[in-house]
Amino acid sequence: MNSIKYFPEGVALGNAFINRENERKYLINRIKSNKHSVLIAPRRYGKTSLVMKVASEMDMAYCSIDLLAAYSEEYVRDQLANKVSRLVFELLPRLNKAKEKLITIFKKMKPEISISAFGQKLSLSLSNSPLQDITELLLNLDATATYFKKRAVIFIDEFQQISQLKNGHSIEAAIRHAVERSENIAYVFSGSNRQLLKQMFGDQGRPLYRLCQTINIERMAKDVYIPHLQHLAKVRWKKLLSLEAIEQIFKHTERHPFYMNVLCQILWEERDVPSIEKIDTVWHTYVKAQKHLISHDITELSLNQRRIITALARLPVKEIQSIEFIAPLKISASSAQQSLEVLISKDLVYRREDGFYYILDPAMKYYLDVVLWEDIG
Ligand SMILES: Nc1ncnc2c1ncn2[C@@H]1O[C@H](COP(=O)(O)OP(=O)(O)O)[C@@H](O)[C@H]1O
Ligand SMILES: [Mg+2]
Repeated sequence: MNSIKYFPEGVALGNAFINRENERKYLINRIKSNKHSVLIAPRRYGKTSLVMKVASEMDMAYCSIDLLAAYSEEYVRDQLANKVSRLVFELLPRLNKAKEKLITIFKKMKPEISISAFGQKLSLSLSNSPLQDITELLLNLDATATYFKKRAVIFIDEFQQISQLKNGHSIEAAIRHAVERSENIAYVFSGSNRQLLKQMFGDQGRPLYRLCQTINIERMAKDVYIPHLQHLAKVRWKKLLSLEAIEQIFKHTERHPFYMNVLCQILWEERDVPSIEKIDTVWHTYVKAQKHLISHDITELSLNQRRIITALARLPVKEIQSIEFIAPLKISASSAQQSLEVLISKDLVYRREDGFYYILDPAMKYYLDVVLWEDIG
């Protein structure tokens, strides 16, 4: 059995994708009525997987842009130009006349059609005003879709990066100008920094205010995973896992979608149904091997932030400022609160629905609470 296929570390496609019924329905309805959305969830919770699933279910033209590395308005413009100049060809009927029309819509950008290994592409000459180009690219894309009575989805990931750029607000305004006029293109923005995204779409003074409805993605429930894991256990070992074993998987991964896949991927390579001990060893070995990633995040923290995160690794709490929590840490209530806010803004600490603060990444939690206290280093 190819366990990577069933438990991928990247986007979950095909049978590897489970659940998200409500989120899918909701997003499909929004796209159908040409409304725009912003998906907010920490890294590796399933934003990209959800959008790709929805795009394939709707059988719609679709492009995805990742702004993770965005460093300037030119970069944002170039990314948009690159994707838009390919996406337009998915909107055309197979007629030569259609291409002539496309050329007229984009005529200000002196379009030429070129053919690459990835298919056809419009070569556009961009101006020295990236902001104007951004608006024009998106408006022209919509004009193309509207003319040919087609619809498409644009997915822009790590969108919060725009707010960090020198000209951030102007780029937001350039995008808004096109998005609010869009008739046949639905936009899905997403990103992993919820604070920045909430400000971008929720603060009254910001250009994108009230443009989108927010969709939060959470971890999936146990009863979603149990039948899925049992089905794959039968495929793999022709046996079911014990409920204790499944609980042990949940205990380590805390149902974080990425870590569920990582841990199960290794377990499903085993010759026999894994025991509790096996699950523990596999998780332990895996987390230890992540040392370089985890220590990078920890070394960046201030001493007080390390105090708080180490304490939370031991035990999630509801009241950060309570005496029981801060007294053993020898830290004042206000510094505890301040450190907590930084940890939250860095997405290292999260507040659960039940009000408890805990460490977002279960591997980091285990590293801080178990691995670092081992006898042998
Ligand atoms: N609906 C799902 N069913 C199963 N696994 C999923 C699902 N959504 C995400 N995952 C898994 O979670 C991890 C992160 O998914 P991804 O879509 O890349 O998240 P994001 O875009 O939020 O960073 C991957 O390992 C992916 O396979
Ligand atoms: Mg993603």
